[in-house]
Amino acid sequence: MDKKINLIIDKALGSISREDIFALEGKAMNGIEQLHKGTGLGNDFLGWLNLPAEITEEHLQDVENAARKLQSKCEVVVVIGIGGSYLGAKAVIEALSNSFEFLRSRHEAPIVLFAGQNIGEDYLYELQELLTDKQFGIVVISKSGTTTEPAIAFRLLKEQLEKQVGKEEAGQRIVAVTDAARGALRKLADTEGYKTFVIEDNVGGRFSVLSPVGLLPIAIAGYDIRALVAGAVEMQKACAEDVPFAENPAAIYAATRNALYQSGKKIEILANFNPKLHFLAEWWKQLYGESEGKDHLGIFPASVDFTTDLHSMGQWIQDGERTIFETVLSVGSMRHNVVIPADKDNLDGLNFLAGKRVDEVNQMAELGTQIAHVDGGVPNIKIEIPALTERYLGQLIYLFEKACGISGYILGVNPFNQPGVEDYKRNMFALLDKPGYEAESKAIRERL
Ligand code: PA5
Repeated sequence: MDKKINLIIDKALGSISREDIFALEGKAMNGIEQLHKGTGLGNDFLGWLNLPAEITEEHLQDVENAARKLQSKCEVVVVIGIGGSYLGAKAVIEALSNSFEFLRSRHEAPIVLFAGQNIGEDYLYELQELLTDKQFGIVVISKSGTTTEPAIAFRLLKEQLEKQVGKEEAGQRIVAVTDAARGALRKLADTEGYKTFVIEDNVGGRFSVLSPVGLLPIAIAGYDIRALVAGAVEMQKACAEDVPFAENPAAIYAATRNALYQSGKKIEILANFNPKLHFLAEWWKQLYGESEGKDHLGIFPASVDFTTDLHSMGQWIQDGERTIFETVLSVGSMRHNVVIPADKDNLDGLNFLAGKRVDEVNQMAELGTQIAHVDGGVPNIKIEIPALTERYLGQLIYLFEKACGISGYILGVNPFNQPGVEDYKRNMFALLDKPGYEAESKAIRERL
């Protein structure tokens, strides 16, 4: 099996030319050099770059052993985290899972649920209610260890778990993933004796899915983290420093989207024709949005699930303001075959589809949509994914990460910080009278 995911940019040409893309070759290759030499902005956050190839057998075994321990004790594992501390795991688990896993009567691995990714009171109440008669465990993930959303969820679920199984057993069912030395979560984990995994200082949250942040929840859900990492290593090689621009998918994707941006296409819509990829798009939106949206610059990353959203967003995409381009995740083969039956009365007029696979209809919907959107002035980048497997997801994740670093450097921003995320937190803490925020509290109240 030597297939790889494949980037196709032919249908992006029209509003831009191939020359426009190649005009960015120098900037893209310079971006790659800056990443590899560590000479660009944010160079203290480049730990993700060689991460796949550097993951050791010992580390994989450690993650798998921790996953097995939770699997043996728990029917549900709640992964607590937000942003980069949850989206990667959620994306991979959703892409690989049975769509109705939660409702199936037999599970080969614990159901993985997520918390701490919002401050929804009803969400937390309903989760706690669900867990009252469940054998559950917790993986709490926070690099800083101080993020409000996961900290609230952890407080609640830790207390509940200790009540349900006792403090000692709870300690056996809680795993913390946090930084090596600092932060409240590190201190708490050390005090309580939890199993811990380290998020390295030089791996930022949204680039951390191939660290224990993503690998542990994915392993708990029963998926093959070795294949995921192997796929990422393959893409690491395919996008390496010595691969020429024209053959380097990360460089070509980064240059194409920047050429489109420069031509006035300010919004990139990541589209899929497979509902299992919904959260992959959520992960991608965070990766690109938080990395590029700064200094009043940056492509706005949006996403749609087709064909579902052709019945809601389809009109706008076909006919609205021409400031968009589309990147389509196109999955080659499905896991299952479903054939459309013939009907003797044919009242719905669909007998022309009888005997065809559902996926054949979906593929024609995809092709028809591509033609319509390109005709309507929406340039189209296509990423072919042979199948939704751990290996190809690993390839895709690394491709997007590397292209994001290159793209940020082409744009001229620091792709590895997120200063804008702090503003809402400062206001929230001021409004909640957090100690130390007295001056901000006074100032913000005067504005209300
Ligand atoms: O990409 C990022 O750095 C952020 O999205 C963080 O992952 C998110 O804010 C959560 O931070 P932490 O892991 O420190 O709780």
